[in-house]
Amino acid sequence: MKNYLRKHLQNHAIYQSARQEFTEGAKEMILLDANENPFDWPYNRYPDPMQQKLRSKICEWRQVKPDELYLANGSDEIINQLILAFCEPGEEEILICPPTFGMYKVAAQLYQVDLCEVPLTKTFQLDMPALEAAIKPHSKLCFIPTPNNPTGNRFATEDLQQLARLFPGILVIDEAYAEFSPEVSTLSWQAEYPNVLVLQTFSKAQGMAGARLGMAFGHKTIMEGLHKVKGPYNLNDLTLDAVCDQIENQQDRVKEMVVLMTRERERIVAAIEDLPYIKTIFPSDANFFMIRVDDSQLRYQQLLDHSIVVRNASKNILCDNCLRISIGTVSENNQLIKVLRTLL
Ligand SMILES: Cc1ncc(COP(=O)(O)O)c(C=O)c1O
Repeated sequence: MKNYLRKHLQNHAIYQSARQEFTEGAKEMILLDANENPFDWPYNRYPDPMQQKLRSKICEWRQVKPDELYLANGSDEIINQLILAFCEPGEEEILICPPTFGMYKVAAQLYQVDLCEVPLTKTFQLDMPALEAAIKPHSKLCFIPTPNNPTGNRFATEDLQQLARLFPGILVIDEAYAEFSPEVSTLSWQAEYPNVLVLQTFSKAQGMAGARLGMAFGHKTIMEGLHKVKGPYNLNDLTLDAVCDQIENQQDRVKEMVVLMTRERERIVAAIEDLPYIKTIFPSDANFFMIRVDDSQLRYQQLLDHSIVVRNASKNILCDNCLRISIGTVSENNQLIKVLRTLL
């Protein structure tokens, strides 16, 4: 396996927090090592820096080994940390395929890493010949969300596999919306494509955006690299407890909600497809869908006037006059349909 880590991190010594130095049996000891408030008070102690309980639950749930998993404060944090750990500013490059999730570009700019943008085709699929031409020996990270945000569609499996073969760096497949899609997750690709890293999140189908938990699954050498840039206590006890409980007790309910959201998506689409100002409704495998209208700013404002906030996606390449609409509750969706039907 290639070593993708940045040069200066190769021998970087990770900060040893108090609880990292001493975790074994910490509950039974007199802990005078972390300058905490010692009194019996909720959350007076630092959280487990190794997140052992949650990690073992996720490993069992997703059938991965502990050294193939990395956890952080939302996928957003992992995107930043991937760049920090693996991309040399001014030397290496990040590849993205707009229209895509906006964070990739912002994070690349934050870390002053050059960006190579290869737009999707008109049908929002990967432009494989253009990608092949754009890949360079110093292409280090490629971020591909599937299903894609903001367009909502999945990319062809064969294209993603070809990209994994062609790409000399780490191919990050961002599965933020994978639970809404009928295709199986790319998690099972690990053995064949060790340069593929899969991102998943608790923010979408799992319904825990406020708890902030992102997961990266990948080869242990890549995970070791991420641990080099991990903050000592990057996940708090509230999140660790809430997510453990969610994995243990709420998965049947999550499946029901996913079925309901998918059904609602189809219901909304069927209810609005004949409206004259809606030019196209793009097919979606996610908990949102994108439409092209006659005038996105006008329609966005009209919806706002009716207290409905959607996302105006028209600043993205290939998305002129497009709005991205998330699936709400049944009554919110009824209201959306009602308002969309009254707009002139
Ligand atoms: C494709 C994609 N990846 C990641 C995220 C962010 O995930 P998190 O809430 O885990 O930071 C989003 C949020 O909209 C997204 O659309």
